[in-house]
Amino acid sequence: MTSRYQEVYNNWQAKPLEFWEEAAKAIDWIKPWEKVFDENAGVYGHWFAGAQCNTSYNCLDRHVAAGRGEQAALIYDSPITDSKQTYSYAQMLDKVQLMAAAMQAQGVGKGDRVLIYMPMIPEAAMAMLACSRIGAIHSVVFGGFAAHELATRIDDAKPAIIVSASCGIEPGRVIAYKPLLDDAIAQSSHKPQACLIQQRDTLKAELTSERDFDLAAEMAKADAEGRRAECVAVDANDPLYILYTSGTTGQPKGVVRDTGGHMVALHWTMSNLYDIKPGEVFWAASDVGWVVGHSYIVYAPLLLGATTMLYEGKPVGTPDAGAFWRVISEHNVVSLFTAPTAFRAIKKEDSEAKFLAQYDISCLRSLFLAGERADPDTITWAETVLGVPVLDHWWQTETGWCICGNPLGLGQLPVKLGSSTVPMPGYDVQVLDDAGHPVGAGELGNIAVKLPLPPGCLPTLWHAEERFKEAYLDEFPGYYKTSDAGMKDEDGYLFIMSRTDDIINVAGHRLSTGAMEEVLASHPDVAECAVIGISDNLKGQLPCGFVVLKSNVMREHDEVEKELIKLVRQQIGPVAAFKLAITVERLPKTRSGKILRGTMRSIADGQDYKMPATIDDPSILEEIAAAIEEHKVPKS
Ligand code: COA
Ligand code: AMP
Repeated sequence: MTSRYQEVYNNWQAKPLEFWEEAAKAIDWIKPWEKVFDENAGVYGHWFAGAQCNTSYNCLDRHVAAGRGEQAALIYDSPITDSKQTYSYAQMLDKVQLMAAAMQAQGVGKGDRVLIYMPMIPEAAMAMLACSRIGAIHSVVFGGFAAHELATRIDDAKPAIIVSASCGIEPGRVIAYKPLLDDAIAQSSHKPQACLIQQRDTLKAELTSERDFDLAAEMAKADAEGRRAECVAVDANDPLYILYTSGTTGQPKGVVRDTGGHMVALHWTMSNLYDIKPGEVFWAASDVGWVVGHSYIVYAPLLLGATTMLYEGKPVGTPDAGAFWRVISEHNVVSLFTAPTAFRAIKKEDSEAKFLAQYDISCLRSLFLAGERADPDTITWAETVLGVPVLDHWWQTETGWCICGNPLGLGQLPVKLGSSTVPMPGYDVQVLDDAGHPVGAGELGNIAVKLPLPPGCLPTLWHAEERFKEAYLDEFPGYYKTSDAGMKDEDGYLFIMSRTDDIINVAGHRLSTGAMEEVLASHPDVAECAVIGISDNLKGQLPCGFVVLKSNVMREHDEVEKELIKLVRQQIGPVAAFKLAITVERLPKTRSGKILRGTMRSIADGQDYKMPATIDDPSILEEIAAAIEEHKVPKS
């Protein structure tokens, strides 16, 4: 089949408003828009201005009304607790109505924030949908973040309540959430009025404070009293959620997602990009704490009327490297979406994919990869093993959906290894030099998207409009700066090469080295420090911290390094995967005092590098190389 991609992209370019107006017909609106796009509203304009809608209604009620009530909406598969449960659309609706009623009983209403700190359990998705039902704005915090990170988000979002669980479960350890939550609330200046806790069998939480409530009991009470929350009409531009993502400092950015444009864009992607039909099973093997989880575990599959998988486990070790194949075959998954690191983990454990022999995965039609650069080896291995198209696609928390991809639903385009393929309709992607001029095909540059961004992308940062402009819009006027660098080839295929800021990507998780440096610098023995991302065969990158200790510190370096590793785990969380701290005498700098992080990275990765012309003292690079050697930093 020849792809309709070019025709569809051209249609969008010729008539962008008509394109999105047509796509918006797939959504049920309470009140239609006055303008498809109001360029005078917000920072760069608002989509579907004047319209009213409700996301929970579009994800649940309308499917039940249309006769899908008995169809599976969500399948929970948890090898880590050895449990599985399927929720039909009618059952999901019932749970969400009750959970939303339990939130209302705590006084939560339209525009209030609700922070959700939960592991991968169905109640996490229900809590998100419950918020959207009553017009509350959720902010989900990934379970691998520690109390301090949670506190930062509590202070920024100022949630009326927090929805959490008694524990999360990682291979070999149970994480008690309640003490983390209490610690975070103790650290934050803003105090939520209530915490609704989902008690799990593995470890129950003690509900000691007056603000603690048992979530299931509150839902049962609402049920007994006949309280069920109805959908509240919100403006298309009202925020659906805030999702914090790493910035260049320890203060994360609160990415705002609007309500109407988000539904339109996500619904469009389900058929046109992922080629999914209502009733089919789609599996995003991510976590609800990340944008992939928001968009493709919760909202998009349900907007379409498909069945979504919620998997509480790992690609390996729960119990083995056949876990993904089991889930695909057992639940009839037609498309899997995950990060390349998950496939690298499987390949490392079972390079010949021997576990596959135990399962029939003929239902699978495609594998989509995102979250980090998909290395050609992993793509080729996955293609050989699965025998289906393996399609890399590139996006960001900020955009909420794919910027460049291979639109299977429009007809697959040829795959070029190392490229995330072509821009989706809505995105005019340009590669610019540092002065903002487009560069030629094959030339490296800053990747930017011409404004306005399409529906579904962030309209601003939560209560930080100036930061939004400064971080994304100021450098290249008229464009959104992605902070990714790369190039376009002669055919318009995009190759994403690296970040232009100090964000690193560890196992598909986006982390700020600046935030880690802030933690290291807070240690009383540290004079200065630099954190870089070094290449890693499994996780893509790993953070590595170089510290210079104060001259009066007489302690063993080893001892301080261990404290630093512990400090990052305590302050940011285990997800930072910070396990390498190296003491050095001096850091390499330019004559103007800028730390040469890029050169340090090349040394750590064993790559050739050019001696920077502005270096202050070249001999420091030899000291760095010797320290790396001594610490046996694994070379990729
Ligand atoms: N709650 C608490 N701790 C968590 C956690 C959570 N939700 N998620 C991860 N952690 C912990 C891990 O247990 C690990 O702790 P450790 O240092 O004690 O071992 C640490 O955070 C680092 O986690 P991670 O980098 O994920 O490594 P891992 O060894 O546990 O797993 C992979 C490696 C590749 C299997 C795993 O990262 C994976 O499946 N990735 C898929 C990618 C993905 O989901 N990306 C999201 C965007 S699509
Ligand atoms: P996040 O906001 O966590 O989704 O991370 C977004 C960042 O991850 C992007 O800016 C890229 O640096 C990187 N990224 C995501 N998908 C890809 C991809 N397919 N190829 C290369 N890098 C990617």
